[in-house]
Amino acid sequence: MDTSLPVVVLISGDGSNLQALLDAPAHGHDYRVVAVISNRADAHGLERAMQRGIPTQVLNHADFACRDDYDNALMTLIDGFSPRLVVLAGFMRILTPGFTRHYAGHMLNIHPSLLPRFQGLQTHRRALEAGETEHGASVHFVAEELDGGPVIAQARVPILADDDEERLAARVLTREHQLYPTVVEWFAQGRLRLNGDRVELDGKALAKPVAI
Ligand code: GAR
Repeated sequence: MDTSLPVVVLISGDGSNLQALLDAPAHGHDYRVVAVISNRADAHGLERAMQRGIPTQVLNHADFACRDDYDNALMTLIDGFSPRLVVLAGFMRILTPGFTRHYAGHMLNIHPSLLPRFQGLQTHRRALEAGETEHGASVHFVAEELDGGPVIAQARVPILADDDEERLAARVLTREHQLYPTVVEWFAQGRLRLNGDRVELDGKALAKPVAI
């Protein structure tokens, strides 16, 4: 019997984080991606999933009258795959409160900044403009506030003197590919959970995000 944790991954674009999740040793062992859903038909990540024989679905937000209608349809689609974890991997949508509540404690997101710094878009540019010396990525449980849920783990990178947005983004993305599979593996192994608004790892509340 397959006891690995069924995971649905939501994407909007390239899907390099999806690829990292599929390539990690824990895939097919601790967890397995049972479906990949995109809000965009041209998301390259859909091809990555198909190459691995993983079912894909496109649910185009432009086909829906409002955010609530879209999120309700998305919930129905996701739940049809009976996942125990929903993983947002570059899914560029603002989520409705009803959607986030439905998956509370069972939905993760990766964000390209050291949260709570730089919520929202263009994080690399904003980190450079702010004169930061350090930047990175965070994995968090999804809560109602955009990029505001409890942070589980972070990967830090230095900002170098001659960095531009592209070089910095590439440095962060490489670390995202280590960070996300590690956290998903913890969840799949039953080591990680959300208790109220506190993150617990191995039964202990985290005082601060784990550095990876
Ligand atoms: C990643 O950098 C991820 O952190 C970011 O989108 C990129 C997706 O790349 N997510 C967000 O900005 C969410 N607010 P990928 O499609 O190659 O995984």
